[in-house]
Amino acid sequence: MKDIFIGSDHAGYNLKQAVKNHLAAQYNVVDLGAFSQESVDYSDIAREVCEKVLEYPGSFGIMLCGTGQGSAMACNRNKGIRAALCNTVELAEMARSHNYANILCMGERTTEEGLAMQILDTFLNTKEDPDERHKRRVDKFDTNGSVHSASLENNA
Ligand code: RB5
Repeated sequence: MKDIFIGSDHAGYNLKQAVKNHLAAQYNVVDLGAFSQESVDYSDIAREVCEKVLEYPGSFGIMLCGTGQGSAMACNRNKGIRAALCNTVELAEMARSHNYANILCMGERTTEEGLAMQILDTFLNTKEDPDERHKRRVDKFDTNGSVHSASLENNA
């Protein structure tokens, strides 16, 4: 069974439990917390999910909080991570096919559970579109210093 690394804060805890149940038959779901609804910082759990996804190239992560927004922001600070906040099936499909997303973020307070499962299934079952233009664009995410040098040029 393929590993999937999952995490949440307190506000995404119930959705995490639902996602784990939904995937249990098909995947080995590795739960990195939170392990209760006691308040925790999504940034801490997001880091743990990212570390695992980077340790196992080709694996997926799922990060859930109240909105998914903070999770996506925190995850995307890590080079090699492409976290997508999805609240529609179409976003999940495009995040995988065009943007090669490796972490799905969703919000328990903003996405109803049934829709969240559809988004999840779409994310996990959509392949990366191998067209060269997508690969080229995604490769540029991790180009060192691109934003910094662009802003320096603008100020010159
Ligand atoms: C927690 O209240 C909430 O801020 C968090 O779960 C998340 O929505 C942040 O983006």
